[in-house]
Amino acid sequence: MASIASAAATKIGKCGIDFGTSACKVAACNGESLSDLDAKVIVDPMGDFSIASYVAVDDEGGYVVGNTARQQMERRAKYTVAHVKKSLGVEGGTVSLVTNLGKKVVVAPEKIASILLNQVVSVASEGEGVDMKNAVVAVPHGCSEARLKAMAETAKQSGLNVLQFISESSAVALAYGLDEETTEAGNYLIVDIGFEATRVSVLSASNGFFSVKHFKEIAGVGGNAMSERIVALCVRDFMDKHGKDLKDNGRAMLKLQAACEHAKHTLSVSTRAVVEVDALADGVDFRKLVNQASFESECSDLFTKMLEGIGATLKDAGLAISDVKNVLLAGGSSQMPRVKSMLAQVFNKPELEKETSGTVNPSEAVALGAARQATLLCMMAENNVEEIQKVVGGETNPTVMSLALTVGVEQKNGLIVPVFSRGNAVPASRTITLEHGSASTLKFYTGERPSAAGNFLLGMADVGEAKGSRTFTLSVDKSGQNFTLLVGEKEVNITFVGAVETLSKGDVAAHVASCASDAAAKEDARARAVADLNDFIYKVQESDYLQDIEEEDTEIVDKKVAETTAQVGAAGDVESITALLKSLTTCVDDILAEYDEEDEEEDGDEAFDGGDMD
Ligand SMILES: Nc1ncnc2c1ncn2[C@@H]1O[C@H](COP(=O)(O)OP(=O)(O)OP(=O)(O)O)[C@@H](O)[C@H]1O
Ligand SMILES: [Mg+2]
Repeated sequence: MASIASAAATKIGKCGIDFGTSACKVAACNGESLSDLDAKVIVDPMGDFSIASYVAVDDEGGYVVGNTARQQMERRAKYTVAHVKKSLGVEGGTVSLVTNLGKKVVVAPEKIASILLNQVVSVASEGEGVDMKNAVVAVPHGCSEARLKAMAETAKQSGLNVLQFISESSAVALAYGLDEETTEAGNYLIVDIGFEATRVSVLSASNGFFSVKHFKEIAGVGGNAMSERIVALCVRDFMDKHGKDLKDNGRAMLKLQAACEHAKHTLSVSTRAVVEVDALADGVDFRKLVNQASFESECSDLFTKMLEGIGATLKDAGLAISDVKNVLLAGGSSQMPRVKSMLAQVFNKPELEKETSGTVNPSEAVALGAARQATLLCMMAENNVEEIQKVVGGETNPTVMSLALTVGVEQKNGLIVPVFSRGNAVPASRTITLEHGSASTLKFYTGERPSAAGNFLLGMADVGEAKGSRTFTLSVDKSGQNFTLLVGEKEVNITFVGAVETLSKGDVAAHVASCASDAAAKEDARARAVADLNDFIYKVQESDYLQDIEEEDTEIVDKKVAETTAQVGAAGDVESITALLKSLTTCVDDILAEYDEEDEEEDGDEAFDGGDMD
């Protein structure tokens, strides 16, 4: 196994890593500018695009890792640790294996995982010709602190610099470009069908933002269970033909599992596959033809569970099937034709059944998205890899991955314009233009309510009056807690009144829960109605809308505006606010109508004057 250090290179490269239960994938981006970021998975010298999550002790006491370890599994099971991700961050989680000296040892999962991770980085470094030890690593959405810590420790032991941990759901979203401003706004559904589970995420995307709104893991519905259905078919068949139960024969079962896994993959591209194992047990060769239809019927309860889980996630998110703009597939098992056809039918998206070529390969999506994020981070630091290393170097617990709540700025009308949405990965930087100018003080809020009033005031910055549009850039560092503001070229100090860190997880959860209440919905609707009213008042007062009217009419409008403004506080519901707006618009429209009439009369007179009198 080549070590990271052996990839002698002066430049340090960046990659994205999907540390999967059954296999790891690593990807890197070609482009260096936002518009041409082309992520690709790095293949190992054997041409494999994934590194099996297997680590085995060899005869000399060294390690065999990845696909080689997997191929030896049936002969060397007791020397091998498979699927180490499952044990990371699990209370009391250890793994055991037998050493080359025949001694059974118990080791920390982080140790085995770091050997695997080292191999992943070696594959990347050899593939790219530079030391690829700066990485964004994807972890399961909502994974525990303990798991994140275990992953950070794994990275540390393998010599990897984690630029950032991002959730697997976010990585998939990035791979499909939900962070691009051209992406159509709306709700997106990610269905990631991995080794032992299906993970369903509902995301909302708009203007280059996306955030994970709901997430559900459907345990037990994954590729492993599906392979096991073929294994069970074969075990029954062997019993019928040879009267022998294979289940107690560990080595035969491992051989059979490998062959069934292979057949399952064939069934994704062909209607028939053969499970073939020479000398499966007691020297008996085994051969069984499996067809796609019977395989799918064996798995039908798993498909039902998958659909039920997807339905439940949508229900939690308050969405109907028709509210889903697109379904983004991830995970190896999403390549099964039945899965694709089922989702295509349910969501009425025939394109899901098409070949994946040209779009994102679902098996690669997590790694591709992580690679994209790694490149974006490096671009934000102007590609100064040393600078990033200085910031993250030696950090063992980079636990903040994303913002707990939306951060936004108050517009003049009282509504919030989000700058970073909830779940936005940090560090991040974004330029915003407020179309109708702003007060001389910019007020930043955090929270999920549409109006400033329902959220937590974060800080204020004195920026001076602006009549037209106002543009500024807000940046947040990797802690998710320190913000900087640039207006034009100038950095403007933000006076913090309520820091993000003073909000506990409980506060955040309580706020999010309260947003869903009926009372909050009513207040939000009222706030939106007030904003519409305010917008109209600005239009009347500050734009050129009424510039041509007489002073006495201006006075009438000003009086009406003053009356209206005085009544807003007492108008408790949307209807009363809408009535105020209607009354104000009617007053303005009536005045404007008089001018129109006068204009028409003048035009008519002119036409009459210019007409032929003969
Ligand atoms: N072409 C294919 N057809 C059917 N199944 C496939 C195909 N390719 C991969 N799989 C299955 O997908 C599963 C692995 O998926 P994936 O690599 O996404 O999981 P993982 O990332 O290792 O696991 P997890 O996300 O749960 O940690 C395996 O069960 C594998 O057999
Ligand atoms: Mg996965």
